[in-house]
Amino acid sequence: MPPLLQRLQQDHRQLRTLLNLLEKSLDRFHRGIEPNYATLAEALEYLENYADQVHHPSEEMLVQSLRDQLKRNLPSPLEVLMRQHEVISELTGHFRQILEGIMQGEVLRRDVVEAQGRELVEVLRKHLQQEEISLFPLAQTQLREADWRALEAQFAQRIGPLVDGQDLARFQALYQHLLAQFQP
Ligand SMILES: [Fe+2]
Ligand SMILES: [Fe+2]
Repeated sequence: MPPLLQRLQQDHRQLRTLLNLLEKSLDRFHRGIEPNYATLAEALEYLENYADQVHHPSEEMLVQSLRDQLKRNLPSPLEVLMRQHEVISELTGHFRQILEGIMQGEVLRRDVVEAQGRELVEVLRKHLQQEEISLFPLAQTQLREADWRALEAQFAQRIGPLVDGQDLARFQALYQHLLAQFQP
């Protein structure tokens, strides 16, 4: 499997783990157990930064390569998925701001907080699943080796300077740190 696709699938596994942790926190919150808001906000910040800087731009590059390769419009669900990236970014940022507000003493209705969190979990989970059904297999069957090489070069040029190896390592370290904090 091309390395870019491997990285995207690995990202999805990590994002899913974060979503599961977030959902567990929401279940506990529903039962009146306060989460560690700082850890949750940190998880959301990680999700937001990594998706905006690395994951979504990589997928958008992949989709552009498919557009070029197929020389026709892509199946519309794929275009919808790419437009969803902005919505996901907004939902994530909004929920993070809610959590930061609570940390600063803002009083919010618990059902509103919970509903915002659940919406994010639901939208993002569905998004990951649909990409695995419609984007990844199409890319694997349609793109040739030369396309993958061009994509790797683009990644190195466009995303690489934004997140150098050190930043990627920092993301990984933060991810591990968050997992450890969520252990009961
Ligand atoms: Fe995506
Ligand atoms: Fe994705």
